[in-house]
Amino acid sequence: MIDPQTVKLPVIDAQAGTSDAQAPGAGVRKVYVETYGCQMNEADSEIVLSVMNGTGYEPTQDIAAADVIFLNTCSVRDNAEQRIHGRLTNISYYKKQRPELVVGLLGCMAERLRKQLLQEGSVVDVVVGPDQYRALPDLVEEARTGSKGLAVKLSRVETYEDITPLRTEGISAWLSVMRGCDKFCTFCVVPFTRGRERSRSLESIVREVEELSRHNFREVTLLGQNVNSYRSDGHDFADLLAAVAAVDPSIRIRYTTSHPQDMSDKLIETMAAWKNICNYIHLPVQSGSNRVLKLMNRTYTVEHYLERVARIQELIPDASLSTDIITGFPTETDDDHRRTLDLIARVGYDGAYMFKYSPRENTKAWAMGDDVPEAVKGARLAEIIDLQREIAHRNNQRHVGTVEEILVDGPSKRDEREWKGRTDTNKVVVFTRGDQQIGDYVPVSIQRASAATLHGAPLDSEGRPVYIPLQMTTTTA
Ligand code: 5AD
Ligand code: SF4
Repeated sequence: MIDPQTVKLPVIDAQAGTSDAQAPGAGVRKVYVETYGCQMNEADSEIVLSVMNGTGYEPTQDIAAADVIFLNTCSVRDNAEQRIHGRLTNISYYKKQRPELVVGLLGCMAERLRKQLLQEGSVVDVVVGPDQYRALPDLVEEARTGSKGLAVKLSRVETYEDITPLRTEGISAWLSVMRGCDKFCTFCVVPFTRGRERSRSLESIVREVEELSRHNFREVTLLGQNVNSYRSDGHDFADLLAAVAAVDPSIRIRYTTSHPQDMSDKLIETMAAWKNICNYIHLPVQSGSNRVLKLMNRTYTVEHYLERVARIQELIPDASLSTDIITGFPTETDDDHRRTLDLIARVGYDGAYMFKYSPRENTKAWAMGDDVPEAVKGARLAEIIDLQREIAHRNNQRHVGTVEEILVDGPSKRDEREWKGRTDTNKVVVFTRGDQQIGDYVPVSIQRASAATLHGAPLDSEGRPVYIPLQMTTTTA
């Protein structure tokens, strides 16, 4: 097994030529990465591209043009893994046409299933876990000569701190500040697939944000599986947020994901103190029943969670909250479910990711069985989704008639003539396009709202409309 701490990135050396991806006479080799799952995986894919680029591989968005195809995978629920198995079947089509193609399976599923993924007949050539991406160029080279490779050792120290991610162009950057998770929620594979918690140094993160500022990024999202347990050289996550916010007031700072147990007063106070730290907190609750929370090993009670929410609302009155909910955890009763609905209504989330419980082998909950029938899980999930949609719709109506500052991030998906952007509180806003540019902050007067989107008209710096919407005229007799 290759220890990531001792592996040196292969350097492009035209004279030696050994690890140079550009073979004599051949074009530049291309790598294609497809990312599944959480934002951590998005950030990791940019690390992978950077590592591969260091040996001369160019990224491509065109899978058919790729010499190397990587799937960066997720194991958190069974359906995520099933999708990837399906995708591998598609990819075998490319491999049949070009046997020299190298296919790599990376990330959590690689870590969980390991050599099972290399079994005979498998289209996969290399299997690489989240802490072994430095080994990718060597493994790919070996795969080109026909030997399959596996690198899944987890590390206690790897943070890829010295690797600058190869980011796709845009105004928003992911920045991973810590890796792994020590919480061991009983339903979750992450502590097994991503290993122990470890943090990057504050200085290296600040330096990276300075670099992002120089490259005109307008939004940085600090990432970690459990970001508010960040610790480095006596600095906690609140210290890190403040240090990062101080770099450039025109960069919005976001972060995800927080654990309710580590949502300290200091962290909330820091958010309140800095204008460019966004007033948006993703705070997964998972269940509204103390009995279930205990079985999940979430280490907080509903009362503690609500007290944290009250503190957030007190210090940051316009804070927007979102959450994750699992429905149908082993032994969940109708009463437990009702408590979850009550909690959702009480907090009034602006958004929620809602999932049916999916048993994962080797977790503690696996041994608890999966006793809530599929139909019951489905019905409970539907009820939760309906309630959440109603609440989000109601919350969004409160914005109608207000002016929101929007960071423009691109054209709206539905209509190219409209811009799309986000509020500080992470709400999507669509408005008629004028001469604004991507990356501009634009005041927008909100005119109507659905559960998912706010719609409005841009204002100029004096607060006057810069675009007068066409009046719909009806002819009446
Ligand atoms: N089943 C269903 N949902 C899960 N999550 C994590 N593990 C499971 C599982 N076994 C959800 C949690 C977590 C989010 C990232 O995924 O809600 O917060
Ligand atoms: Fe999984 Fe819990 Fe860690 Fe989140 S905090 S990654 S749910 S173990």
